Amino acid sequence: MAGGVIVDTSGGKEYPGKVTAYVIFASIVAAFGGLIFGYDIGISGGVTSMDSFLLDFFPSVYQKAKLDTSTNQYCKFDSALLTLFTSSLYLAALVASVCASTVTRVAGRKWSMFGGGVVFLGGALLNGAATNVSMLIIGRILLGVGVGFANQSVPVYLSEMAPARLRGMLNILFQLMITIGIVIANLINYGTAKIAGGWGWRVSLGLAGVPAIMITVGSLFLPDTPNSLIERGHPHEAKEMLKRIRGTEDVGAEYEDLVAASEEAKQIKHPWRNILEKRNRPPLTMSICIPFFQQLTGINVIMFYAPVLFKTIGFGDDASLMSAVITGLVNVVATFVSIIMVDRAGRRFLFLQGGTQMLACQIIVGALIGSVFGTTGEGEMTKVKAVFIVIAICFYVAAFAWSWGPLGWLVPSEVFPLEIRSAGQSMNVSVNMLFTFFIGQLFLKMLCTMKFGLFFFFGGWVIIMTIFVYMFVPETKGVPIEEMVLVWKQHWFWSKYISDEDTHVGKKPKA
Ligand code: BGC
Repeated sequence: MAGGVIVDTSGGKEYPGKVTAYVIFASIVAAFGGLIFGYDIGISGGVTSMDSFLLDFFPSVYQKAKLDTSTNQYCKFDSALLTLFTSSLYLAALVASVCASTVTRVAGRKWSMFGGGVVFLGGALLNGAATNVSMLIIGRILLGVGVGFANQSVPVYLSEMAPARLRGMLNILFQLMITIGIVIANLINYGTAKIAGGWGWRVSLGLAGVPAIMITVGSLFLPDTPNSLIERGHPHEAKEMLKRIRGTEDVGAEYEDLVAASEEAKQIKHPWRNILEKRNRPPLTMSICIPFFQQLTGINVIMFYAPVLFKTIGFGDDASLMSAVITGLVNVVATFVSIIMVDRAGRRFLFLQGGTQMLACQIIVGALIGSVFGTTGEGEMTKVKAVFIVIAICFYVAAFAWSWGPLGWLVPSEVFPLEIRSAGQSMNVSVNMLFTFFIGQLFLKMLCTMKFGLFFFFGGWVIIMTIFVYMFVPETKGVPIEEMVLVWKQHWFWSKYISDEDTHVGKKPKA
């Protein structure tokens, strides 16, 4: 039965060693990679609604927006050109993550982070100094390349550095940095929008250089992961690194498992062809479905459009920005819940609890908005209802922040075998970026057509993804990363894809 798919991980293998300050430090530095992604998510919406920015670069959009006198709250002015500009970053990231997979595998995880940081920095400078649309667009593409590289390499790096029993916690530092990036960007926009003289947008876009410098410089100090060192033919360094990050000389067992995984990996010449093999069907499914579902929670409707949304439900300009900041803070704080819980309660519990809470909130928000604006989009929002909507949105964001947000990056990064981990992670990034692009591009049109039903639409997806988790996502808490095949082997559904030879070097779980 599906509920019984949970593999007993409490008795899973444990290697000796402790959590060293060194591993925590390296994880925090690598997680800076999340800042650049978060900063961008949080900054674009505010900048593209600044009059001075529109007048400088998209004057026709500005004119049309001013002429828009519609009182239909569902159908706000929408410019395909402007949303395309914003979401072009996600297409660039999608393509870049595929290139990043080769760099991450061949040169090591840290060089992908370094490369991502440098390119992102170039993009930030170009955007901050832009005098024409081409500079803006080239800048955005560079930012996208940076995000593609960072999101591809950082989660893998974190999952490999961490000892199995704390892998969830350390990996979620990445999501924590994303949320911090978002909220800082929101606050910066709040300030720069008030700069007289109309150059506030330059500050907003240019300051993206700060997180870029943090990951670029930080990555230079990062050690390589033992897994990557072995994979690249440096067994001696790998063993020394393992001793250093685990804080013990007794790393023999873990080291041998890494070597065994790497022997497997050596047979593989074409990770992209290999990923399609039968035994890789389960992690491949995760790397496609999890990012797809993550975006179909509808979270980026809130992240990109919170100011528009709050304005729609009756808050003034300032108040709507402040409400966006509130959801931003809830996002950061709730991520800590995940950090604390993920290696205790496990991934499945967070997914299932978070999904249920998100669904309840979506029903409440849809019903309240529907009760005010009906299907015509005309109506007057009362203060009380507006406050309830904001509260429901906060509960929704909190649920995402301890479930699909962090787990959307954690689970795909921990389920692939070494030889295709890098390719698998770039699949995860590509699917994530593709659907982030679609949501960014289509949200305003969807709101105009589906009206309050849009919240039920995303709610429907949350039901589907929660059932998916219940049936098909095994518990991976505490399982050593190079032993993941044993989890599939014991799963009620996925076991049929794994033969005995696939459990590398014929190893069986130790009782
Ligand atoms: C998602 C982003 C989202 C962010 C919100 C991330 O995990 O990938 O699309 O904007 O969480 O915190």
